[in-house]
Amino acid sequence: MSSASTSTPVAHNALPPPSVPSAGRSSRIAPHSHIKGLGLTPEGLANVDGAGFVGQTNAREACGVIVELIKSRKFSGRALLLVGAPGTGKTALALAVAQELGSKVPFCPMVGSEVYSTEVKKTEVLAESFRRAIGLRIKETKEVYEGEVTELTPTESENPLSGYGKTVSHVVVGLKTVKGTKQLRLDPTIYEAILKERVVVGDVIYIERNTGAVKRVGRSDAYASSYDLESETYVPLPKGDVHKRKELVQDVTLGDLDAANARPQGGQDIMSVMGSLVKSGRTEVTDKLRREVNKIVKGYVDQGVAEVIPGVVFIDEVHMLDIECFTYLNALLESPMAPTVIFATNRGNSLVRGTVDIVAPHGIPVDLLDRCMIVKTEQYTREQVGKVVHLRSIVEGLKLGSGVLERLAAEGENSSLRYALQLLTPASILANLAGRTQIEVEDIGEMGELFLDAKTSAANIGQGGFDGGKMW
Ligand SMILES: Nc1ncnc2c1ncn2[C@@H]1O[C@H](COP(=O)(O)OP(=O)(O)O)[C@@H](O)[C@H]1O
Ligand SMILES: [Mg+2]
Repeated sequence: MSSASTSTPVAHNALPPPSVPSAGRSSRIAPHSHIKGLGLTPEGLANVDGAGFVGQTNAREACGVIVELIKSRKFSGRALLLVGAPGTGKTALALAVAQELGSKVPFCPMVGSEVYSTEVKKTEVLAESFRRAIGLRIKETKEVYEGEVTELTPTESENPLSGYGKTVSHVVVGLKTVKGTKQLRLDPTIYEAILKERVVVGDVIYIERNTGAVKRVGRSDAYASSYDLESETYVPLPKGDVHKRKELVQDVTLGDLDAANARPQGGQDIMSVMGSLVKSGRTEVTDKLRREVNKIVKGYVDQGVAEVIPGVVFIDEVHMLDIECFTYLNALLESPMAPTVIFATNRGNSLVRGTVDIVAPHGIPVDLLDRCMIVKTEQYTREQVGKVVHLRSIVEGLKLGSGVLERLAAEGENSSLRYALQLLTPASILANLAGRTQIEVEDIGEMGELFLDAKTSAANIGQGGFDGGKMW
């Protein structure tokens, strides 16, 4: 096989990769990247520490039961309600449930107060979240170049338009598979896509021939390190030729399809195929558009091209919803294509918003509460806080000096696990400023002077007025 192919095989005017998860969503999940599941044994018992989860064994086992119910389709029309103090792992549990349901199961987190907007109806916000939590796995066979990146060399040339600037005229990419290597000379737009995916030498990528879309599959496992926990995914060196036909699996959500079709733009990928079918220049996702998308999706499913994957919608601070939302939720839970619904709250008895006199447990009306299975999370011990801080320091690639872990564990026990975790990043900045690569106890001490934890702050104010209506 020739390794010096210098053709320009990929079309100009490349389109960006079709589905990019919204930045807001991924940044909300990032603090939980050490969580890989519920960490249960096949019998459903919780390993003391497993899958990145420390302690909280009762709640994890209870969630394991829920996962079984969902998998055996006995959970429809119901919801899981997580109750517990802030920072006790409610969001982490919800994410772990989604992970236990399968890889790439959509997880759509929102906060109750998000429904209050002056532009969009409350029920619309809820409906959209539900659509974003229903995944669609689409299989298509496409012509691609795939391999481990061995070379990534942009070639610059004088820009003829501006006297002094330089532009990238093309980029040379070397791709390696088990069978051989190939050098591609590619259009600068593809270089932009490569930069966007943050591809570096040693990553396994593929480039779609027709669209020029670049997808980073993961890091080649030749580069794997010995950590047990890392946010990186390692993949084997691809087999076969660099240039081949490959069955691509694309994961989108109904919400993505709604949005893509609300602003049709034309193109060749599946998102805009649908766009051209429902072309009308709409800019808003309407019920009618949703029904049309559903119809097309059903067609794809019937043809065996796509598979529906119900995900998890997670509504944090559920007590912030009002009676209108709760009523609508009852209806949503009943719909045939509903995702799994998980609520979380840290409130005890409170007034149901939007009513003047209905006080209910967790501020949730009893008819909805009736559908909920309730799981309580416990406070963490100092030792458990220490373990989680340790896990996070590995994932974030931070080195801790002696005594730092103990110190952070103590901080966490006094205030909350989240507070302890949140000290990590600023502490590493202080360490950097001091010219160290390792966080030392003095950095934590300095932070104590700079910032207050919630309890100290409340005590300073004098009234401790933050606890109104809370159970804990
Ligand atoms: N038992 C646990 N094991 C490991 N990490 C945890 C655990 N509980 C919470 N965390 C982590 O602590 C942080 C705060 O937890 P979170 O789930 O956001 O709390 P909550 O939603 O109850 O306020 C997150 O980064 C989360 O991943
Ligand atoms: Mg939370």
